[in-house]
Amino acid sequence: MKTLPHYLLAHLEGNERQIELNLIIADIADAGKKIAHEVQRSGLLDLHGAAGGQNVHDDEVQKLDEHSNSIMKDILSANEHIIGLASEEEEDVVDVSNGKDHGYLVAFDPLDGSSNIDINMPVGTIFSVLPSAGDIKEDFLQPAGKQVAAGYVLYGSSTVMVFSLGNGVHEFTLDPDNGEFVLTTENIKMLENTGYIAYNPYVLPNMDPKKAEAYRQLCDQTARSMRWIGAMVADVHRTLFKGGFFAYPSVGKGGNYKGKLRMQYEAKPLGWLVEQAGGKAILDDKPINDLTSSDLHQKVSVELGDAGTMRLFESFL
Ligand code: AHG
Ligand code: MN
Ligand code: MN
Repeated sequence: MKTLPHYLLAHLEGNERQIELNLIIADIADAGKKIAHEVQRSGLLDLHGAAGGQNVHDDEVQKLDEHSNSIMKDILSANEHIIGLASEEEEDVVDVSNGKDHGYLVAFDPLDGSSNIDINMPVGTIFSVLPSAGDIKEDFLQPAGKQVAAGYVLYGSSTVMVFSLGNGVHEFTLDPDNGEFVLTTENIKMLENTGYIAYNPYVLPNMDPKKAEAYRQLCDQTARSMRWIGAMVADVHRTLFKGGFFAYPSVGKGGNYKGKLRMQYEAKPLGWLVEQAGGKAILDDKPINDLTSSDLHQKVSVELGDAGTMRLFESFL
C-alpha cells in the first residue's frame, strides 16, 4: 500500500520542480478531502440547492459550488509557490503572489457537474497547474502542453484523485478509515476500440452537419452502448478507465456554433490527461496541443477518447 505523500517523494525524485509540485499536489489533495466531506454531508447540512447568483458563464451557482471554491481558494492561496488562481466561479484571476515575480498558477473548476449535486450523483474538482514568470493573466492562457500537473478529484461511490505530473496518469483512492489517499492504479493506459460512446444526441440537429454525421457514423459502426453522467469529470473518468468516446460539441444555428465546456479548467486539463494515458483530445477541431487560448473563460468544443476510437471518428470527418 502506497500513500500519496510516499508516492510523490519517489515519483518526483530528480524533478526540478520536486518541492513545488509535491506541495501543490498535497494541497489539492487536502482540498479534495474537505470538499468530499462537504459533498457527503450536503443533504444533511442544507448544502443542496442554489446559492442565489450567477457566475461569469451565467450558470446558476449552487451552494456547493461556492463552498468548494472557498475551500480551494483558502488552501491554495496559502501555498507560497502559487502566485495566481483562476476559477470557474471567479470573474478575474486571483493574484496571490504577495510580491513574488514567478511561481505557479492553478486553474480549477471547484465543482464540476452542478446538475448532479442534489441527486447524489458524481461530481468532481478539476485542476490545471502552469508555471508562470510573473505575467499571471497571460500565463493562464498557455497551451495544454505547458501544464506541469493536471487532474481531478472525483466524488463518486468512493473519492479518487487522478493526476499526471507529465509522467503517467495515476489514481489514488481516499481511504475513509484513515483519511489517506492510497495508490490504486499506476500508469493508467486507455484501452483501445472499446468502452462507451458519450454525447447528448439531442444536440445533433444543432451541430455542424458534417460533424453531426461523423457522430452518427461512429455510433453506427461501433454499435457500442451509450453512457452519459452529465459531469465531464465523471464521463472522462469512465473513458480513461474503460476507453470509448466523450464529446461535447459546439452547437448553434446558421454556422454560428459555440462550445460549452471551458478551456482552462475543464477541457485543457482533462484533454491533456487523456493524451497522457495514450488517448486523443480534439478541442475546437484542433489537436489539443495546437489550440491557443485568448480568454480565461473561453469555451471550446471537445471530442476525446481512446486512440483507436478517435482514429475511427476522425476518418468520418
Ligand atoms: P459545471 O457544473 O462546472 O458548470 O459544468 C457542467 C458541465 C460539464 O461537466 C457537463 O458535461 C456539462 O456541463 C453538462 O451540461 P448540460 O447538462 O447542459 O448538457
Ligand atoms: Mn464544470
Ligand atoms: Mn463547476
